[in-house]
Amino acid sequence: MQTPGEWLNQHLTTVIGRLLDQPEWAPGESLVVPASQSKFGDFQCNIALGLAKSRHQKPRDLALEIIENLQLDERCEPPTIAGPGFINFTLKPAYIQSWLTWQIQDPRCGVPKVKEPETIIVDFSSPNIAKEMHVGHLRSTIIGDCLARLFEFQGHQVLRLNHVGDWGTQFGMLIAYLREGYPEFFTQNQGIDLGDLVSFYRQAKQRFDGDEEFQNNARQIVVQLQAGDPELLTAWRFLCDLSRREFQQIYNLLDVQLTERGESFYNPFLPEIVQELKNKNLAVLDQGAWCVFGEGFTNVDGSALPLIIQKSDGGYNYATTDLAALRYRVQKDGAQKIIYITDVGQSQHFAQVFQVAKKAGWLPETVQCIHVPFGLVLGEDGKKFRTRSGETVRLKDLLEEAIRRAEQDIVARLHTEERQETPEFIQNLAQVIGISAVKYADLSQNRLSNYSFSYDKMLALQGNTAPYLLYAYVRVQGIARKGEINFAEFVPEFVLLTETELTLAKHLMQFPDVVEQMGNDLLPNRLGNYLFELSQKFNQFYDQCPILAAPDPERTSRLGLAHLTAKVLRLGLSLLGIPVVERM
Ligand code: ARG
Repeated sequence: MQTPGEWLNQHLTTVIGRLLDQPEWAPGESLVVPASQSKFGDFQCNIALGLAKSRHQKPRDLALEIIENLQLDERCEPPTIAGPGFINFTLKPAYIQSWLTWQIQDPRCGVPKVKEPETIIVDFSSPNIAKEMHVGHLRSTIIGDCLARLFEFQGHQVLRLNHVGDWGTQFGMLIAYLREGYPEFFTQNQGIDLGDLVSFYRQAKQRFDGDEEFQNNARQIVVQLQAGDPELLTAWRFLCDLSRREFQQIYNLLDVQLTERGESFYNPFLPEIVQELKNKNLAVLDQGAWCVFGEGFTNVDGSALPLIIQKSDGGYNYATTDLAALRYRVQKDGAQKIIYITDVGQSQHFAQVFQVAKKAGWLPETVQCIHVPFGLVLGEDGKKFRTRSGETVRLKDLLEEAIRRAEQDIVARLHTEERQETPEFIQNLAQVIGISAVKYADLSQNRLSNYSFSYDKMLALQGNTAPYLLYAYVRVQGIARKGEINFAEFVPEFVLLTETELTLAKHLMQFPDVVEQMGNDLLPNRLGNYLFELSQKFNQFYDQCPILAAPDPERTSRLGLAHLTAKVLRLGLSLLGIPVVERM
């Protein structure tokens, strides 16, 4: 069924098309938006303000002409005009009631599948082997997983790619250090215990920085590795495996699925990429390096900034791999949309890569490449997020700390409520709350802004937090238990008598539009904020309207509102990668 927003948009589009004498007229985006304040009604349309000038009309007059031609009586109160020419719409309760009866029976809570599914690649997480997986990668993992979940739910074919940094000069250094410090690895022919890979990396780096002979040795290893030396390849694989196991622990904790296709995968294609760019006269030799000069990219001094695709020593760059990956994803994976999720610092890199790919003919008009940038994670002091001793925070420690603190909170709460729960219950709940809190703290912010990481804030039961949302869901399950109601077999008639009920009902109706909007602008905080408001409106309703104690038909209708709220919360949270619990 159409959402009210779609329905209004469709009617407005037809009427305006007729007024303009352009039957095919179609606006780029919806003509209606939810009203900014409920006193203006439920939806608002601003089109008259934009169109009036070209028609030499006053916006108010055009607005009047539009509403005179609209026939909405079946579902809407007569539209009104406000200010310079805004059109306001208020839905009739009878329409809302019947729409909700449909929505509550729909397993998708009113969200349609897309009519034309696409093949979408989400390139996310993508940490670097042997280096620290840091909070930036955490953001990429959480945001990328959320967008992938959304596309999957919309019915697209989604490839979740982990573009890990598993190739490059750092392996020369690492293997040289392995040879020197752990010669038994090469003689024993079996795995050895390197301990913590990150400290291993640090030690190797120290050694590398301090000794010229070691550096030469490392460089030679890179060349031999690229040439396919079997012994070195074994060492490389060993190091990758160790990293992979560490990353996987994080993905398990976060419940995130990824297909690993690292930089090394594209290694065989790099010479062709450079050759093709040379053949197309796009690559030029500049100070010994092969470069592509695009438009609009400059250094701080105003000189043109090229994309370097092959360094003077013959080595390839991060950008060369990205070009090869892009070409592969278009030609072999058949991607129609490729979404890259990294911090905002890489915006220019991707803009350059996309431009070069277009020029080279690897990125046809039908394929969309989108860089989805995000801001930094800061400490509570507003500075870069670090441990007390000034080191980068290890992700595993961070997640475990969130779980530990969630557990503390739960134990304290159970104590005040004088409740007894099993250790398994507490452990499971702490895990869900701890991880959800970290995810939600990230997803509820506009991803472009920096945000401060605060365990206390994200774990609080009050405010725009995961525990607050989960608690609203749990409240509904509590009602069901108390009233011995089986929601699965429950098809209510809605009667919306009070303002509080209507407000909640109208908010529930907006869910499909919010999901669609998030698919367009790729901002998870749209959904986060929607769910937060839903929880608030539900809590108001819960405080003001008796549910189980009410006589019928209110009782059934209110149970319906509660159940639908829980369904929308569960589905919405699942799109954010957050599971619900029945009790907490
Ligand atoms: N490994 C990179 C980093 O840690 C992120 C890779 C993002 N994806 C890509 N196709 N470049 O910064």
